[in-house]
Amino acid sequence: MTFTTERRKSNTFYVIMIAGAAALGGFLFGFDTAVINGAVAALSKAFNANSLQTGLAVSLALLGSAVGAFYAGKIADRYGRVKAMLVASVLFTISAIGSGLPITIWDFTFWRLLGGLAVGAASVIAPAYIAECSPTHLRGRLGSLQQLAIVVGIFIALLCDYFIAVSAGSAESPFLFGIAAWRWMFWTEIPPAVLYGMAALMIPESPRYLVAQGREPEAANVLGKILGGNVMAKIAEIRQTVMRERQPQFSDLLRRSGGLLPIVWIGIGLSLLQQFVGINVIFYYSSVLWRAVGFSEKDSLTITVITAAVNIITTLVAIAFVDKFGRKPLLILGSIGMTVTLGTMAAIFSAAPTDAAGNPTLTGSAGIMALFAANLYVFCFGFSWGPVTWVLLGEMFNNKIRAAALSLAAAMQWVANFAVSTTFPPILQYFGLGSAYGLYTIAAAISIFFVLFFIKETKGIELEDM
Ligand code: GLC
Repeated sequence: MTFTTERRKSNTFYVIMIAGAAALGGFLFGFDTAVINGAVAALSKAFNANSLQTGLAVSLALLGSAVGAFYAGKIADRYGRVKAMLVASVLFTISAIGSGLPITIWDFTFWRLLGGLAVGAASVIAPAYIAECSPTHLRGRLGSLQQLAIVVGIFIALLCDYFIAVSAGSAESPFLFGIAAWRWMFWTEIPPAVLYGMAALMIPESPRYLVAQGREPEAANVLGKILGGNVMAKIAEIRQTVMRERQPQFSDLLRRSGGLLPIVWIGIGLSLLQQFVGINVIFYYSSVLWRAVGFSEKDSLTITVITAAVNIITTLVAIAFVDKFGRKPLLILGSIGMTVTLGTMAAIFSAAPTDAAGNPTLTGSAGIMALFAANLYVFCFGFSWGPVTWVLLGEMFNNKIRAAALSLAAAMQWVANFAVSTTFPPILQYFGLGSAYGLYTIAAAISIFFVLFFIKETKGIELEDM
């Protein structure tokens, strides 16, 4: 091995380590949003909550995430990416402790809201930090680490829920060491939340932030470890793009004539479509979904865990191809795949006969086909819109507007997530599963054209040239 390849390898290792530490925020994002899945039924029973109270307890956290995402950019620009991560870690930890201790549904909702703020913040800081610390040729792959972390977080949370549920006592009143099982589910989040803060204390500040702060020697030091060799030319280049203007503000996202910059609209469009294809209906309500079409509770839980595993595998596919084939081809392929699979589900659910409660009953091959289509859908989302949206949001805006634009786009993503997850139960109740999936199919079809007409390939382009 020559000296240069050896050196390159150690740089790559260093970058993966710091990107991985930042992506822990993504892990908590996935974990926090999914852990409620296994707890919600027991906790609404414990507090005797009605469906509206339960719905709010679940979904208000998502609005908290919108707020967290919106302000994280400001904090990250003023105090640095690492400080913003520390704030998020503290919020995650307090929320995890509090969510397991509530005495009413309302203080539970409050603790979840705090966690939601942290989820939103993490959803913005990690992609920005990773994009800013990555060498160009690895940026897509490292950015996809965020999605990998999210989906691993979802998987582990569902697995923890599952194990806590099966180790707890009777199904009627499940307890573990004398404490209600659902409380433990939230406490499982404490260790990763603390670890995130510890990791944040060990990673360097983003070189692009340091340059913006006029801390160039520190920036050169960090960039030197990332890129190796002489980095002064790179620093000068960053300085040029960063220093051209004053501190970024939300008004920078506006055109002279008023209205948002077109690129900001594209970021928002990506976010909205990523959610309108209904992915989180699968992750938040899969047990409801599969039980509604006749699977047993245990089978539904198993299917949910399998789907989360499919989501992990497909993210690895994205990591392998995003810097090779580029962002756009993956998005288009994913959009087409999602349109077909969602359309198939819509057709199966619409055609199925309904039982006395109005739920479709899938018999024989229809059930298997729906299962297959749903997992294929998750697969198509997982190599495309799941990771690529986050990669693009991290890299598509120039240095000057990145934090603000990313915050706005991510906040809109959380609002869309909130909208989709709160409307699913009523749509299911009044119009049926077929209609819900019909709507998601339309969104997927629109996404094909959105990519064709509005997305520019960013593979291999330097952040400074965006
Ligand atoms: C993306 C979405 C997130 C979703 C996840 C599932 O990260 O932003 O809302 O839960 O993919 O894979």
